[in-house]
Amino acid sequence: MRVCLVGLPGSGKTTIGRHLAKRLKLPFRDSDHVLEEKIGCSIRTYFEQFGEPQFREVESSIIDQLTQEDCVLSTGGGAVLRSENRAYMRARCQVVYLKATPENLFRRLRHDTQRPLLQVSDPMQRLNDLYATRDPLYQEAAHFVVDTGRPSIQAVVATIVAQLELAGVLPSM
Ligand code: S3P
Repeated sequence: MRVCLVGLPGSGKTTIGRHLAKRLKLPFRDSDHVLEEKIGCSIRTYFEQFGEPQFREVESSIIDQLTQEDCVLSTGGGAVLRSENRAYMRARCQVVYLKATPENLFRRLRHDTQRPLLQVSDPMQRLNDLYATRDPLYQEAAHFVVDTGRPSIQAVVATIVAQLELAGVLPSM
């Protein structure tokens, strides 16, 4: 089984993905980590040296590769920007959009120094812009939408499992 998590930076894709993978007894994969192994440096450094378009090229090849593996896959927040990535995810995986408000994301990310897109003078404005552009793309890619404004990681994981069961794509556990 393949489950793919999409959502804005800070929506909890990695943390929730790890817990979900344990719960579903699947390997956990993170496209940003696989990408950093491939490029041999941090995403931030790669952005500075080669720019975003080059980064998106590498990201697409990783998404193509990882959406063919049985796993819980956490994707980079911009992985939905390319239509072929959205198509791969939707055709090959159960795609879950972890939806969060820009205000919640800002609270979680205000001290972040690693995400190149947020190293701007007004990160809240940037998050509002990213939300406006990307929310429709996450919705388009996703089979399920889960609100991450919930109190705990376990509550979000339980909601995802319940949705997968209800849809009949997961045997009742
Ligand atoms: C990006 C999000 C990052 C990472 C890169 C670009 C984006 O992943 O892929 O910095 O375009 O939103 P996270 O969503 O895990 O932060």
